[in-house]
Order: sequence, then structure tokens, then C-alpha cells
Amino acid sequence: MKGLVLSGGKGTRLYPITYTSAKQLVPVANKPVLFRVIEAIRDAGIDDIGIVVGDTADEIKEAVGTGRRWGVKITYIRQEQPLGLAHAVKVSQHYLGNDKFVMFLGDNVIEGGISGLIRQFENSNYNCQIVLTPVENPSQYGVAELDPDTRQIIRLVEKPRNPPSNLALVGIYMFDEHIWEAVQAIKPSWRGELEITDAIQYLVDQGYQVYPYIHRGWWIDTGAPGDLLEANDLVLDEIEPRIEGYVDRDSQVNGKVTVEKGAEIINSRIRGPAIIGEDSRIVNSYVGPFTSIYHHVLIENSEIEHSIVLEHSKILDIPYRIEDSLIGRRAVITRSPIKPKALKMTLGDHSQVGIL
Ligand code: DAU
Repeated sequence: MKGLVLSGGKGTRLYPITYTSAKQLVPVANKPVLFRVIEAIRDAGIDDIGIVVGDTADEIKEAVGTGRRWGVKITYIRQEQPLGLAHAVKVSQHYLGNDKFVMFLGDNVIEGGISGLIRQFENSNYNCQIVLTPVENPSQYGVAELDPDTRQIIRLVEKPRNPPSNLALVGIYMFDEHIWEAVQAIKPSWRGELEITDAIQYLVDQGYQVYPYIHRGWWIDTGAPGDLLEANDLVLDEIEPRIEGYVDRDSQVNGKVTVEKGAEIINSRIRGPAIIGEDSRIVNSYVGPFTSIYHHVLIENSEIEHSIVLEHSKILDIPYRIEDSLIGRRAVITRSPIKPKALKMTLGDHSQVGIL
């Protein structure tokens, strides 16, 4: 089986942090979502992975490289325009041939990985397997209606105004060669995209076997407008604690904490789940649960909890605890001794600040 990761699309959608123009490279618990996707596919035993790239191809190629780091072979597939998920599949036909494949959207993260799903599909005679999960806001996603008795798919609709159920399509799909017939047959939707939802509906209508697997754990579409902090909470809770950096004798590290290589914890308290990135320094400070500090960050004489701090930022001498915060790259938060005594800020677009 092969893997197909969709990492194309325009780089212009809004994100709480304008971190990179490729939304798939935004780090959650200190690791870009796209890297998590590659690892999930690799861990399911697939080492031949195609990545569909668009406008942000250069950024993605630079970050991912050949795949050697993960022991996989990466092939980049160019999609000139983001004309839809089924279009992305279409332009990958020369790479996929008639092999079965799993398609994984490059901005999705799922609890527990996909090994079980892949095994089930490989050992079945299904032509397609989709993953569904109950959500509170189904109209933001593709939605499936299942027959209440047989649990077979009746209908799939993309972002319906009146959802027929609360079962959203998770961005993980498995196909055999019959998908080629489907992507040729469908027409662009009202939003001008070739929808994978319509291609799967075609398979259902033609009587092919499409199996709806119901996922019960968490799932995050980090591309959807939502809460990056919540995604960070969920993923942090799953990481393996490890201390590769330096923790001095005056510091305390409790709970699930990762201190990456080159990081230093000096006279500080870290309470997990938390991750301190490479070459970051935490000095005379407190880092509380559900916090991700990315690489080359300096936190001195400050307290922070339930937050994300991206690389090369500095938090120095802040007298109040910082909570529920997203701090972008190279941001500096510090006390200013310069009179007049006033708040002095340089904030990026869409910033939000809560003052005590
Ligand atoms: O995340 C799950 C949802 O993903 C499903 O419930 C929907 O049925 C499905 O259509 C899809 O909806 P989104 O609106 O979230 O898709 P989005 O445009 O964000 O694209 C998903 C990923 O695929 C993203 O990493 C960008 C990439 N992509 C997207 C398009 C439209 C491509 O590589 N090429 C494309 O043409």
C-alpha cells in the first residue's frame, strides 16, 4: 500500500498564529502537524509516501526533505491549483498506479494512529474505507448519513447547511483502483472543487463496497478555524516524557514533561504535560500544565501555563502569570522601565491581548 498526503491548497487561510504560509507546518506540541501525519503512516507500515504540494511547495520540501529521517521515501506531486481533494487524487494517478492507498489530509491529527485501520482495510474486500466521528458542528465538514439498521452509507454531503447526522468525515480515506473511475465521473461542486465526498458517493451509488469506520477517540482538523490550544492539549497528553536537556538541582520537573536536547531548566518548576524545545532556557520561572515551548525560547522570572510559545521568543520579568496564550515567533514580552508608565505594544494582525 502507498500513502498520499495532501499538503497543497492556498497558503492564505487565516490561522490564530500566522506562523508559516503552509498551515500543515504549524507545530502542535512542538512538531509540525505534517510530520505527525508522515509518522502515523510510517507507523502503519507504509514507507512509500506521496505528498501533494501547491503554492507552498518550497516551504514543505525544505521542511520534509527526502523522508530519510523517518525511513520512508517521499515523492512530491505538484498540483498547480487547489481544485479540490478529488483533483489532488487525480493528479497523483501516475504515482499511485493501481495500488491500494491511504489518503491522509496534511492538517489532520487523530488519536491512536492508523495502524488498525490500515490492517482492517488490507484484510478486507472493501473498495474504500472512510473514517467518521461524531462532532458538535457537522456543517463545517463532510457529513455521512448511515442506514439506522444496516449502518451502511446512504449519503455523503460536503459542509451541509442542514446536516443529516453528526458524523463528520475525518480526513483519512482508503481506496483501491476503483477511485480512478469515480474521480473521472464527478463534476466540480458549487464551490468549484472536485470533492472527494462526491467521488465516494459515486462509489456508493455504483454498488462498490464502502465501509464507514467510526472513530471514538479525539480528532483534530487543525486547518479548521478552531482552537490551537485545544489541539495542543490533546497531543501533549499523548507524548512520551523524556529529559534530554539539562535540569539543575534547584529545579523540579513533575508529571509528563519533555525537555529536548540543549534545553536548560534553571531554578524553575515545570509541571506537565509540557514540552520545552531544543536550546530553550527556563530560568527562575514556572511552566505549568499544557504548555509547549518551542525551540530557542528564553523565559526568565516569569510564570506561564496552558500556552504555546513559538521559537526565538522571550518572556522576561513578567509579574503576572501568563495563561491561555499563543505567542508567535520572535515575540518579546518584557517589563519596561522607561517612563511614562504605560503599556507599549507592537502586535501583529489579528492579535488579542487581555490586560489585568
Ligand atoms: O478535515 C476533514 C475535512 O476535510 C472533511 O470533513 C471534508 O469532507 C473534506 O472536504 C475536507 O474539508 P476541508 O475544507 O477541511 O479541506 P481543506 O480545503 O482544508 O483541505 C484539506 C487538506 O488538503 C489541506 O491540508 C490542504 C489540502 N488540499 C486541499 C485542496 C482543496 C490539497 O492538497 N489540494 C486541494 O485542492
